[in-house]
Amino acid sequence: SRSIRLAVIPGDGIGPEVVAEGLKVLDAVAPSSDLKFERTSYDLGAARWHRTGETLPDSVLAELRDQEVILLGAVGDPSVPSGTLERGLLLRARFELDHYVNLRPVKLFPGVATPLAGATPDDIDMVVVREGTEGPYTGVGGVLRKGTAHEVATQESVNTAHGVERVIRYAFEVAASRPRRKLTLVHKDNVLTFAGDLYQRVLARVAEEYPQVSTDYCHVDAATMFFVSQPARYDVIVTDNLFGDIITDLGAAIAGGIGLAASGNVNPAGTAPSMFEPVHGSAPDIAGQGKADPTATILSVAMLLDHVGAAEAARRVERAVSADLAGRAALGPRSTTEIGDAIAGRVAG
Ligand code: NAD
Ligand code: IPM
Ligand code: MN
Repeated sequence: SRSIRLAVIPGDGIGPEVVAEGLKVLDAVAPSSDLKFERTSYDLGAARWHRTGETLPDSVLAELRDQEVILLGAVGDPSVPSGTLERGLLLRARFELDHYVNLRPVKLFPGVATPLAGATPDDIDMVVVREGTEGPYTGVGGVLRKGTAHEVATQESVNTAHGVERVIRYAFEVAASRPRRKLTLVHKDNVLTFAGDLYQRVLARVAEEYPQVSTDYCHVDAATMFFVSQPARYDVIVTDNLFGDIITDLGAAIAGGIGLAASGNVNPAGTAPSMFEPVHGSAPDIAGQGKADPTATILSVAMLLDHVGAAEAARRVERAVSADLAGRAALGPRSTTEIGDAIAGRVAG
């Protein structure tokens, strides 16, 4: 059996609650694969920051680099200034580990209620390839005359030819692997003319290598409208870091809710471990109450399994989730652990 070093970062709020269920499902599927996970848990997040002032210390980052893959719950807490953990821990990990692809499937499973009247699983089945290391997320910018009536806050979007090309290439590969073979660039090239034009030119150049993939373009504002009115327009989307953040929460909502949305922060070159996490945050409003839906984390575990080459185990987890989702409407509300137990039971059985 193959041994895989797995780092676990439960984090804050509902993070530890949903990660526990993700690990439960991983434990249930491992015996049927030939994988053995050597787990190391890292105590990072609000509690550590309060105790030591640390977010992601260099020593921990060095240990994470030595792992094969990472599972993260969520970070962020109302008791910590906004951005401290989000930037200092989550974004630092994404940037340092070169997670240039933030892979976010938007898929309506059969039997799941969508707020879009009449929409079926055939209509909502896309993959958003969100750029993960550039755009407005780099932290370039600053503030002048802070606190005065003439304060100026600047937050620049950084887009490099190298960064744009590598994420677009990845998106073409994803599109080429899917039946519809369609790739849509979502941007705002009518206003963000420098960055939008770079994305457009790179897309057109790389498209020549993928004649089997059809491409189109959609402004991000119109894309939010079409997500609601005509989601079937989209197969694979490639987009900027911030636009990708926003449209994937919308994508989660149309596909049954944020509690179902999985993601992977992928380093396709394999120069550092990739990191899998639900799209949602630490949900302080429901933390500690056993109300969090662990399904997004469990589907992120399936993506993790795919990433480490355990495709069969990944499909097993997805089938168990799909079966659980199909039966949910008939059941009353269940707790976090009840959902985790049910899916783990289906995986093992
Ligand atoms: P959020 O995703 O935490 O919560 C938004 C809403 O969705 C809340 O009402 C919450 O209860 C609900 N929700 C989220 N996950 C759920 C689940 N699994 N099951 C059921 N309901 C769920 O977003 P927010 O409120 O904007 O942010 C809260 C904190 O999380 C902030 O500190 C933010 O910075 C952080 N955050 C972290 C991540 C991450 O770690 N990847 C992602 C988003 C937000
Ligand atoms: C997400 C989150 C993060 C992001 C925040 C917490 C930094 O919203 O993973 O979607 O903006 O990428
Ligand atoms: Mn987000």
